[in-house]
Amino acid sequence: MRVLVTGHQGYLGTVMVPILREAGHDVIGLDSGYFADCVLGPAPEDPPQICGAGPMDLRDITAQRLVGIDAVVHLAALSNDPLGDLAPEVTYQINHHASVQLAKAAKAAGVSRFLYASTCSVYGSAGDELVAEDAPLRPLTPYAESKVWVEDDLAAISDHEFAPVFLRNATAFGFSPRLRADIVLNNLVGHAVLSGQVLVLSDGTPWRPLVHAQDIARAFAACLTAPAQAISCQAFNIGTEVNNLTVAEIAQAVAEVVPGAQLRITGETGADPRSYRVDFAKARDLLGYQAEWSVAEGAAELYKLYTAYGLTEQAFRDRYTRLAHLKTLRQSGVLDEAMYRVGRLG
Ligand SMILES: NC(=O)c1ccc[n+]([C@@H]2O[C@H](COP(=O)([O-])OP(=O)(O)OC[C@H]3O[C@@H](n4cnc5c(N)ncnc54)[C@H](O)[C@@H]3O)[C@@H](O)[C@H]2O)c1
Repeated sequence: MRVLVTGHQGYLGTVMVPILREAGHDVIGLDSGYFADCVLGPAPEDPPQICGAGPMDLRDITAQRLVGIDAVVHLAALSNDPLGDLAPEVTYQINHHASVQLAKAAKAAGVSRFLYASTCSVYGSAGDELVAEDAPLRPLTPYAESKVWVEDDLAAISDHEFAPVFLRNATAFGFSPRLRADIVLNNLVGHAVLSGQVLVLSDGTPWRPLVHAQDIARAFAACLTAPAQAISCQAFNIGTEVNNLTVAEIAQAVAEVVPGAQLRITGETGADPRSYRVDFAKARDLLGYQAEWSVAEGAAELYKLYTAYGLTEQAFRDRYTRLAHLKTLRQSGVLDEAMYRVGRLG
């Protein structure tokens, strides 16, 4: 299958591309390159960019460029809640409007399958009950809101020739050559390695379902080959109940893996109101999909590779933190206010 992966130079895309290639797919990428240089360890082998272009903005895509592609894996986005709060209008523009525009262009070009990276953040603050895909959606931020709107808009353009699928991923963890330090497990392990402390700036009670980046990639691979009628217009929670943990439990797992690290839970009211426990049965039943990595295994992997590749305090804070890195790109004139690369050809 010829597969376009948007956001292939992001945290998840960099892990996913080799997994899709190993599964036999012919992968091409599309990325504006915001994090292309944010590499830890050996440099990844990127696939060719669409039409041989260099960095390309999602907002510039046309149907013509998508002819010959069988499936789109759509990851590109301003990807997390604090980022959305930094620039809500740009978040809506890229994450909502450009995603729907891409899907329409894909449909017009004859692409038959469109796998969309949605998120369990759409459940917002859901209490202690397990939430399945039919639970009420309560997005709390522009980021989560735009995910809900894209799901709705893609459902509206689906038909027997165009199958959109919504993969509602739990919060990711694990090593990627294009690291992210601003997701909970990656952050806690990094902090512990650099400071000797596992620091939780809240009371640690919110539920956070977690899933390894490689497990997310395998879920997308499963959706590329599943029969279209079984998955078209379906949402799937991606993760495993075993990794439905509170922030305090996640922190405890880190303290057990990083030698000498002291656990400190400050007890204040956290800044992030999200809390949800997720039911992952549907992906197991319909896709035969099972996430494999536990949080303890992910923490051990991160500890080993952070140490082996010499993670530094400055890189942890700036280069691998989405918000800080994008602010730097804007301040240094690489990106304009709308997050376009300055001097792009369009
Ligand atoms: N990481 C998680 O915990 C998680 C959880 C659930 C869902 N998701 C979703 O998965 C997807 C990928 O997440 P990630 O963690 O890899 O994010 P990321 O920020 O690491 O990567 C996103 C990529 O998209 C690219 N991009 C952003 N705007 C673009 C534009 N206008 N044109 C072209 N490329 C653009 C960036 O350059 C980057 O390489 C996102 O849609 C995210 O919302 C992530």
